[in-house]
Amino acid sequence: MLKSADAIKRLRALNGGAPGLAYVRSFGCQLNVSDGEKIKGVLQEIGYGLTEDENEADLIILNTCAVRESAEDRVFGIVGSMKKLKERKPSLIIGIAGCMTAQSHIAQKIRRSYPQVDLVVGTSAIRSLPGLLLEHMEGASLAEDISEYDDFSEAVPQIRESSFKASVPIMFGCNNFCTYCIVPYVRGRERSRRPEDIIAEVEELVGKGYKEIMLLGQNVNSYGNDLGGEITFPELLRKLNALEGDFIIRFMSSHPKDASDELIEAIFDCRKVAKHLHLPVQSGSSDVLRRMNRRYTAEQYLETVRKIRDRDPGFSLTTDLIVGFPDETNEDFEATLDIIREVKYDNIYSFIYSKRSGTKAAEMPDSTTEEEKSRRMRELLSVQREVSSEHYRRFIGRTMRVLADGKAKKKEGWLTGKSSEFIIVEFPGDESLIGQFVDVKITGAMNWAVTGEMAEK
Ligand code: SAM
Ligand code: SF4
Ligand code: F3S
Repeated sequence: MLKSADAIKRLRALNGGAPGLAYVRSFGCQLNVSDGEKIKGVLQEIGYGLTEDENEADLIILNTCAVRESAEDRVFGIVGSMKKLKERKPSLIIGIAGCMTAQSHIAQKIRRSYPQVDLVVGTSAIRSLPGLLLEHMEGASLAEDISEYDDFSEAVPQIRESSFKASVPIMFGCNNFCTYCIVPYVRGRERSRRPEDIIAEVEELVGKGYKEIMLLGQNVNSYGNDLGGEITFPELLRKLNALEGDFIIRFMSSHPKDASDELIEAIFDCRKVAKHLHLPVQSGSSDVLRRMNRRYTAEQYLETVRKIRDRDPGFSLTTDLIVGFPDETNEDFEATLDIIREVKYDNIYSFIYSKRSGTKAAEMPDSTTEEEKSRRMRELLSVQREVSSEHYRRFIGRTMRVLADGKAKKKEGWLTGKSSEFIIVEFPGDESLIGQFVDVKITGAMNWAVTGEMAEK
């Protein structure tokens, strides 16, 4: 593979600097979206314009996710339908990037069954994109780089989707090997970015007017474990909190086994750190948690919640839950409903278990039917709706500081935004306020959002 800079030079010469329009679509988590922004940055560097319309594109990159089968099926459906697009425009280049490419059986399936695909860009190969495009233009039937580097680059250009909210990956990979999860296999082991690089990036973003910084990692609590004791995640939070400027710091995800007292202290001490914690529990049954290799029990999880709520009884928590893990019994499921009722999450992200080949759980027997799993999911969502419609009422009468992030749907003249607690807040307001912090006095609560009016200054 050519060095990126050489490939860029030769590509520019080949294209006369105008290779056309690129359409990049990301399917996965926020880290995947952040990678998508880097893909756009690299493409723009080599002269591509960007489009939101795949029909006018000269290059299409699908930035994929492998976490559940449904995500993969969606991508294969879309790649299948792109055959027609390519028949209409034979010069169209189609590339697959992201986590799906890191599974050898998927890479093989692409090679075998999807000849319309020209490029396979592995999760560590965004910088190889110019080289891969060059290989394709020089006649390769499939240009692919699915190698694993460890030297994630600090210098990849990035086209950010928002001018006021930015994601900043602080680490890559995962060491936890939860038995259901494909991420450690497709993203490799944990690698922390240098703290000075993260701080410089956040400083630059805040200098450009960014108001929300979302720190990303599969388990931010183990940030720094590979940096020889130089820094911990709570210490990083404190350093970022000390930067000049009016902005809010969020982070995700936080593995409950590593949610330390030091972390809780930092959240309460640091004014700029959001008063919200996403603490994925996955199940309320200690037996299921053991079989998931989560390395905490339901009791230990509740102990962490108690420590937080002792300091602030209304503290906002959200979580991820898996329904229908192999051989989850009715009692296990009831324990999950109990934990939802006990913790009173403001929001949950719930998923029906999806078997991922290569993971330990894929080998576990499972006698629960898909119908029963769907029934449990419906029940879980209904319990959560009850909990949140009651729990959201605690905000009525309070004034919340909200980062306005867009127009509210179906409400002419209204804006929507997120409070520090990660609650959706809708209020009447002018579009010019989008991207700014606004104080909103809360007057109403639904089970997914609160409503209010801008507070007098
Ligand atoms: N690292 C994060 C953590 O541990 O909380 C999670 C990252 S994962 C991309 C996001 C969520 O997807 C997980 O918390 C889990 O609930 C869900 N998930 C992961 N593997 C899954 C599977 N095989 N089936 C269903 N949901 C899954
Ligand atoms: Fe997956 Fe567990 Fe790692 Fe999260 S911590 S990415 S769920 S293996
Ligand atoms: Fe994210 Fe999906 Fe990969 S959740 S890390 S894009 S498998």
